[in-house]
Amino acid sequence: MITAQAPSSTANLGPGFDVFGMALDACFDTVSVAEEGSSITISSDDDIPLEYTKNTAGIVVDMMRTDFDIKPGVHIKIRKGVPAGYGMGSSAASAAAAATAYSNLYNLNLSLTELTRYAGYGEQASAGSIHYDNVAASVCGGFVMVHTKPLRVINLRPPENLTMCVAVPDVSTPEKKTQVSRGVIPEMVPLCDVTTNISFASSLVAGMCTGDISLIGDSLQDVIVEPARRHMIPALDDIRNLAVSAGAAGVTISGAGPSVIAFADGSIVDIDSVGEAMREGFGNHDINCKIFPCKSAKGAGTVQ
Ligand code: HSE
Repeated sequence: MITAQAPSSTANLGPGFDVFGMALDACFDTVSVAEEGSSITISSDDDIPLEYTKNTAGIVVDMMRTDFDIKPGVHIKIRKGVPAGYGMGSSAASAAAAATAYSNLYNLNLSLTELTRYAGYGEQASAGSIHYDNVAASVCGGFVMVHTKPLRVINLRPPENLTMCVAVPDVSTPEKKTQVSRGVIPEMVPLCDVTTNISFASSLVAGMCTGDISLIGDSLQDVIVEPARRHMIPALDDIRNLAVSAGAAGVTISGAGPSVIAFADGSIVDIDSVGEAMREGFGNHDINCKIFPCKSAKGAGTVQ
């Protein structure tokens, strides 16, 4: 039996819709695979589909098993640590852990890009369309930028002091939350907005490369997707103002939301105070939230 663990992640980081991702050590999914029988079976104590064609990890393993013509069946055991439907890359974490575990079970020696490609099939099933930002982060760790045509993952180690805080609101989310929150995004956008987002995306990457956390914070701005989704997170502006007053360098929606993520220089800012400010922001809208202070995580890997 092989067991792999993959981290939660945040996608977009403001201007990098479907391109930027960062692995977070806030929580992890664990997937074990063992050769068994002649088909794919799944067990879990969590409330997830156990039919492999409807399960993120099952879809990934099915695709790999078919591509590599592996005849024996497999039993997949899944332990969810990443909350599903809140913008912390839950399906991506299961998909990344499944791809990593199955690849190791059969010594497939896949590159990180190939693992990301397989993990993407699971994400597609859950989100309704293929995008690799969360899966690439969960597979590779650190900060990632994704080219899709052809698939290529560029991986950077974020600045050592970069510290994050995710506020996960205690609200119910639709079953196909990502599909719903992608449905509100405009298909066409003005060129000037594209230019603005590219400028922020460029400076965010510059901040990652030079260790300029203040520049990263200033660059967490998105004039395309955030305005379309803002109505889904009415507390966002409040949270942003309060978190920045508490020392955060910047605040944005985590992935497709409804979680919100703050970035700060952990060597000069008390991240717990930022978390309390975010809690107050949601609280002003009568919403409780869970706070996850975190750092960037390593990518998926096998565990004992
Ligand atoms: N980039 C994706 C989105 C992340 O914002 O819809 C969510 O899976």
